[in-house]
Amino acid sequence: MLFEFSTNADSANQAYANGIAATRSIPKAEQKALGQYMTPPAIAEFMARRAVQGLGAATIRILEPAAGSGVLAATAIDALLGSADTPRRIELLLHEIDERLIHGLRHVCEALKLKCAARGVDLDYVVANEDFLLSATAREQQPLVDLVISNPPYFKLGKLDPRVTAHSYSVWGQPNIYGLFMAACCGLLRAGGRYCFITPRSWMSGPYFSAVRRHLLAHLRLDAIHVFDSRCAHFSGDEVLQEAAITWGTARAQEGPIAISSSYGAKDLDTALVQHLAPSLLVSPLSERVIRLPSPAKPAPSSKLTHGFASHGLKVSTGPVVAFRAAAFLRHEEAIDSVPLLWLQHVKAMAIEWPIKKKREHISVRAQNAWMLLKNEPMVILRRFSPKEDARRVTAAPYFGDLPGSVIGIENHLNYISRPGGAMSAKEVAGLAAFLNSQSVSEYFQAVSGHTQVNASDLRLLPLPSLTELEQIGALVKPHSPPEAIDEVVAQVLDLPLASERALDSLHA
Ligand SMILES: C[S@@+](CC[C@H](N)C(=O)[O-])C[C@H]1O[C@@H](n2cnc3c(N)ncnc32)[C@H](O)[C@@H]1O
Repeated sequence: MLFEFSTNADSANQAYANGIAATRSIPKAEQKALGQYMTPPAIAEFMARRAVQGLGAATIRILEPAAGSGVLAATAIDALLGSADTPRRIELLLHEIDERLIHGLRHVCEALKLKCAARGVDLDYVVANEDFLLSATAREQQPLVDLVISNPPYFKLGKLDPRVTAHSYSVWGQPNIYGLFMAACCGLLRAGGRYCFITPRSWMSGPYFSAVRRHLLAHLRLDAIHVFDSRCAHFSGDEVLQEAAITWGTARAQEGPIAISSSYGAKDLDTALVQHLAPSLLVSPLSERVIRLPSPAKPAPSSKLTHGFASHGLKVSTGPVVAFRAAAFLRHEEAIDSVPLLWLQHVKAMAIEWPIKKKREHISVRAQNAWMLLKNEPMVILRRFSPKEDARRVTAAPYFGDLPGSVIGIENHLNYISRPGGAMSAKEVAGLAAFLNSQSVSEYFQAVSGHTQVNASDLRLLPLPSLTELEQIGALVKPHSPPEAIDEVVAQVLDLPLASERALDSLHA
């Protein structure tokens, strides 16, 4: 294997070239089994620049726990040498499991040492050829590091793998090795130490990463997240088909706004737009701690939307009538003992249309099925599914409790929002339905979930305007309003720009 390095050359580019050359000589299957995908220097630089910002100590200890050919270490040192507070001493700790990369890594470190010396900075390094997750450093969890920068391997691990046992605090269900790296490194940072990881985006949601998220958020303040929109443009040298994200954090620091950005790949990093959002808008307070990112190209949920369903005393539920279980009670025609049953087809944007003479739209009320029927009262009813071609993600209708009967049936493909132990006013119902049908909410759901389903769990996290604002919207919006009219009313009450104005703004920006 040929390793090139000259002290004059750009260290990160050289380390990357060495890494690519090394991995080309390794069989593809082995490369995959070790998760060997080197970070392109442009991305490494983008990661390091923010990560070293403000690290002002005289001695800085850096950990790269899955070092590969040392691209990230080289870039972090370059960034420190180029920063306003260059340290006097840098201690570099590199872990790499693959023996074939160790020789090259030492070359990189030697060259970095010379480079630092030329700037009057002492560099000491340790290259540990071992499994980081089983190392004493990872197991002992002593907070001794000022910066951890990593592109860890990613692949699933068996539950009995010793690395899973060693880091069981971060495991829930099927573990992925990158989640273990993310979690194991949090506890190694000194207070104020910096954390920077590039990983697949999947850790931000889904139950399998819930323990990782809890651990990370207990140790770190999230500073910034950058998402790559393309599945492969960020690692164009290797065929990595994962949506990636870079996460920056600071150990045990006070919460502040999180900078969210995105780019297609490495080439458009410099033009990526950034928005700063309160953590409460992005991180769910529930134990799952799901992180939902709005798309920076589109508006974030406005900072005026500081309320939620729970704080308004409202509950989001799924329709309890499952057709095949309730089959014995469903009727095409009205009967003496029947009440209306609402299906997806009855719910239009801003209107309930019943009967439509198409579905079994009546349900008999008997002692056996009384539990699946709801009090007939005002509520907002939404479709759980919208066709892909629908321009808006949410179809919601105000229901004023005006169909016949003291109870009503709501089929399982619908969600409904009601106020248990109280009643929603007509204005609240109309206002909330209009808000849910608005373009802003549609964009929010497009940004936070890749599918067209609007689950009750997703809905519960939606930031809402105040009740007064919802009532104002309800007072202004007309029945059967077209989408543009809804947007106008919502924008007027919440003082938001309309989509057309935003498009103009972005042209002028
Ligand atoms: C995704 S690559 C990243 C390499 C380098 N940090 C970079 O950014 O270019 C992950 C590296 O971790 C190494 N690795 C895999 N499992 C490891 C483990 N358990 N401990 C330490 N290194 C590991 C792989 O051999 C590979 O070089």
